[in-house]
Amino acid sequence: MNSPLLQGIDLNVPDFVQNARLIDWVADMAVLCKPDRVYWCDGSQDEYEHLCQQLVQAGTFKKLNPAKRPNSYLAWTDPSDVARVEDRTFICSEKKEDAGPTNNWVDPDQMRQTLLPLFDGCMRGRTLYVVPFSMGPLGSPIAHIGVELTDSAYVVVNQKLMTRMGRAVYEVLGTDGAFVPCLHSVGAPLADDAQDKTTWPCNPQTKYIVHFPQTREIWSYGSGYGGNALLGKKCLALRIASSMGQQAAHGAAPGWFAEHMLILGVRSPQGKKYHVAAAFPSACGKTNFSMLVPPAAFDGWRVSTIGDDIAWIKPQPNGQLRAINPEAGYFGVAPGTNTLTNPNCMASLNQNVIFTNVALTDDGDVWWEGMEKDSGQLPAHLIDWRGQDWTPEIARQTGAGGKLRAAAHPNARFTIAASNNPALDEAWDDPAGVPIDAFIFGGRRSTTVPLVTEARNWTEGIYMAATMGSETTAAAFGAQGVVRRDPFAMLPFCGYHMSDYFQHWLNLEPKLQASGRALPRIFCVNWFRKDESGHFIWPGYGENMRVLKWMIDRIEGQASGVDSLFGRAPSYDEINWSGLDFKPEQFDAVTRIDAAAWEQEFKLHETLFEQLADRLPPALAHTKAALEQRLTASV
Ligand code: GTP
Ligand code: SPV
Ligand code: MN
Repeated sequence: MNSPLLQGIDLNVPDFVQNARLIDWVADMAVLCKPDRVYWCDGSQDEYEHLCQQLVQAGTFKKLNPAKRPNSYLAWTDPSDVARVEDRTFICSEKKEDAGPTNNWVDPDQMRQTLLPLFDGCMRGRTLYVVPFSMGPLGSPIAHIGVELTDSAYVVVNQKLMTRMGRAVYEVLGTDGAFVPCLHSVGAPLADDAQDKTTWPCNPQTKYIVHFPQTREIWSYGSGYGGNALLGKKCLALRIASSMGQQAAHGAAPGWFAEHMLILGVRSPQGKKYHVAAAFPSACGKTNFSMLVPPAAFDGWRVSTIGDDIAWIKPQPNGQLRAINPEAGYFGVAPGTNTLTNPNCMASLNQNVIFTNVALTDDGDVWWEGMEKDSGQLPAHLIDWRGQDWTPEIARQTGAGGKLRAAAHPNARFTIAASNNPALDEAWDDPAGVPIDAFIFGGRRSTTVPLVTEARNWTEGIYMAATMGSETTAAAFGAQGVVRRDPFAMLPFCGYHMSDYFQHWLNLEPKLQASGRALPRIFCVNWFRKDESGHFIWPGYGENMRVLKWMIDRIEGQASGVDSLFGRAPSYDEINWSGLDFKPEQFDAVTRIDAAAWEQEFKLHETLFEQLADRLPPALAHTKAALEQRLTASV
């Protein structure tokens, strides 16, 4: 392949790239973005190490002490670029109605007119990296290929850990294979011969995370962080893929589902294996639950991880729902993680990690809030995520609301390959996926929602998922701790009208029932109820195994549960309390249904339904009326 020179830019197409559409697109985007050079990533370990070294030289990375944390790096971002930007995220479907009331929408032509001048020359002074990646096992019929063009070396090395990235993808693409084009720029062009003045170039003023579902394109501008910039994750594997899965449904064909769900396997001491997919909103416990270590009382039980954030779920002709994890790594929340809450996660962080926005210790290691529970004490001195001195004394003086000033940003994260996880399931990479026995939906709620209930039928389960509320977290820019509806934990990630999404889920029941197989169970959980003094009542983490075991007992017909407002609930003695001092009064405090709170709660469901009214499935309004009647009858 020759390397055409385009307006002074050498495309440098390597011999192993043969896909004409890809080469044309890279040429067009290079002409638009005007990088100094184009580099086609091959995904090799050499390339990874070379780019990490380059990031160290640029000051973006600090290499951690190899004796403490081999092969690991720490990045501190610009303080304006620390989380997803939901108010700058757009679904540009041709018709506004198809994006629905919960998404930001702009007419696609108008959006292109906004974006083109922003991207024009946006990579001046930088390298355009071509990053080919596969979401799902390479070459498998369920995988989808994306190619990200980015001017951020940080994005390239993260994509190497998070996806199947590199030369093999070009081979799968061949001469005419399809891919989702993903264009990304930090939006900080350099004037002639200028150097970066900052170690985290981004655009503090202007950010756009844009999806064109009809043409299946992604354009992201101005941010270098997480889901804003690693475009395979939320943009492709959730927003674009959710829309693809719904479009694939017609007639008897059920289509498929791209969900914000962990997937775990749980094996009984007798060797029986179950698989569960759970949707919790951002920073509400998916990574933790997917790596759960059962308490001692559950000797012989083992939980293993298939995925920690995203599930692609495909109905099979035999009525099974089989799920794969399209990712190959984890971009997980660091604060709160320690060997007591999540020993598997701590073990996965021993080497080959990219940390972002955690604190740096004096001996060249990392620290974040929660690690003091392991060591029994706060570190005497750190450099915090903003590069400032941190001591317990300074933190006391500068913290707000009587709290210590955090040394790690609350949305500080680690990036690791899935292969780092000691609890990785043997089928995590299987293109056939795993069969789902149960779905779990759970938000972060200090009040109202009980520890666990099981939906009495499919529609009630879809209702629970659709009306899920959660207190907002640092994973997205904006106010924190405010209860908002986050249907299916997909509010920021659904690529089309949320009511159509509910209908897509409701339609599964008749389609799967045709096979005669029972549908997966649906459970609703809340690990986060608090007492009057603001402490979590439920111990959570590994202890969540007790709830998971009750779910398995339900599947096996070994727990009858009791009828409650919001589904079937466990009685106190249906839960195995061995090794945990959790009294009936405490159980009551995490399971009690407060009628007044639920009256309020249904008003919030109503607000969501009003917002979605133009296309809301009637079955959900009927379910609401039936639940409200139950509430009235109970008081
Ligand atoms: P995203 O990657 O943003 O989608 O988040 P996630 O759902 O994977 O969240 P993660 O497991 O990383 O947890 C986020 C925060 O919730 C961490 O600070 C955890 O310590 C905390 N957390 C997780 N599980 C529990 C639990 O069972 N109880 C309590 N109280 N906190 C938990
Ligand atoms: C989330 O916010 O749900 C995440 C982190 O998983 S990010 O990839 O940044 O979106
Ligand atoms: Mn997530």
